[in-house]
Amino acid sequence: MTNPMKMAAGQWSPEAWRALALEQQPDWPDPAGLAAVEERLKTYPPLVFAGEARRLGERLAAVCEGRAFLLQGGDCAESFAEFHADNIRDMFRVLLQMAVVLTFGAACPVVKLGRIAGQFAKPRSAPTETNDGVTLPSYRGDMVNGMEFTAQARTPDPQRMIQAYGQSAATLNLLRAFSQGGYADLHQVHRWNLGFVAHSPQGERYRDLADRLTEALAFLEACGLTSDVAPQIHETEFYTSHEALLLGYEQALTRIDSTTGDWYDCSAHMLWVGDRTRQPDGAHVDFLRGIGNPIGLKTGPSMTPDGLLELIDILNPANAPGRLTVICRFGAEKVESLLPPLIRAVEREGRRIVWSCDPMHGNTIKSSTGYKTRRVESVLAEVRGFFAVHRAEGTHAGGVHFEMTGQDVTECLGGAQAITEENLADRYHTHCDPRLNASQSLELAFLIAEALKEERDGDRRKVQAAF
Ligand code: PEP
Ligand code: CO
Repeated sequence: MTNPMKMAAGQWSPEAWRALALEQQPDWPDPAGLAAVEERLKTYPPLVFAGEARRLGERLAAVCEGRAFLLQGGDCAESFAEFHADNIRDMFRVLLQMAVVLTFGAACPVVKLGRIAGQFAKPRSAPTETNDGVTLPSYRGDMVNGMEFTAQARTPDPQRMIQAYGQSAATLNLLRAFSQGGYADLHQVHRWNLGFVAHSPQGERYRDLADRLTEALAFLEACGLTSDVAPQIHETEFYTSHEALLLGYEQALTRIDSTTGDWYDCSAHMLWVGDRTRQPDGAHVDFLRGIGNPIGLKTGPSMTPDGLLELIDILNPANAPGRLTVICRFGAEKVESLLPPLIRAVEREGRRIVWSCDPMHGNTIKSSTGYKTRRVESVLAEVRGFFAVHRAEGTHAGGVHFEMTGQDVTECLGGAQAITEENLADRYHTHCDPRLNASQSLELAFLIAEALKEERDGDRRKVQAAF
């Protein structure tokens, strides 16, 4: 893929955002310390390569054209405290399980994209938080400050960016080993189903599917299709992404690709702009428009068709498929009324984007016990609504974007485990938003597999009707 931004970036430079309106930034108490950290980060190695980001762009182009599905998920916010090989493995394992359900269950290639190895900075609804008469800066993610409600922890500390870089590098290293070193071998499908998930209804359903897949692999092997000739059996492609919120950090990792001479943000394969920082004339949109990576744009209920077209023009002026993924997060009740006008505008103008559904951020509620939570039913309902709208419009429901963990947490209500408001206190560990646990994530995957099959069968009927 040639760089879609080449002509349009024009006068773009990686620091041009500094002159523009900048939302959702910490109030750094020591600007000189911040600048010193950014200078140091500029000397650190890139975490990903431009060529990998371009390959993700090609995979997303296939999604855009209706030939694949995007699965993007991970923590709302990664944390320093929960940095552990087991947590990374468990998250990866659930994504692999979900991908197998979709690839085998719906016969659809899946692009696997983690919200991981860099997802450390959070936009907040208020800059400060008040508890018992004490007002402190809000927690903005481990890359900025600590969650504990003390003046010391809440003071933004740029050294945390160095720690986040280090954790991202180590996480990515392990993910590369998992995806290429044999853990993701399709012969291991049964082994991904360990732990608490195996005993859930989802786990049983998964086991049936894994049995069928194992049989299919044995058949292919007998035909001579082994991992020697088809490396996809033995390894998988896995990409990373996070919200490009702390632009000083992102700028420091933005480098010129020696192959093409273009700028790439080498902190992750894909970067997205959040719903709160997507002002067309703001710093975040300007930064993203100039990098060659595939990018994401979150859109909530306040987006209008014209507003979306304006942002698409800025972010994907060359109309390159795979360049831009629009991640809709309207809420289960609004998706069916708010999404169609956006799709129609995009279709009318012939704009090529990937449509993805974030069924998490529009469905956040407060439990009667005081927890920020989400109902699995609402999450599933938004995904169903998203697919229904795309079927009605004749467009491709391209992907999902969700917050999950491989751990047996109790952060979202309902699901097959029937987590109640009282259960939320048992294992509520998130550093920011409530995540689906492993079994709730599998539930989501089975629902999507069904919906994708319907989409495909619908297409087949259309083709048959045409002949
Ligand atoms: C997020 O993805 O965690 C987030 C803050 O989302 P949004 O920008 O859609 O609110
Ligand atoms: Co979140």
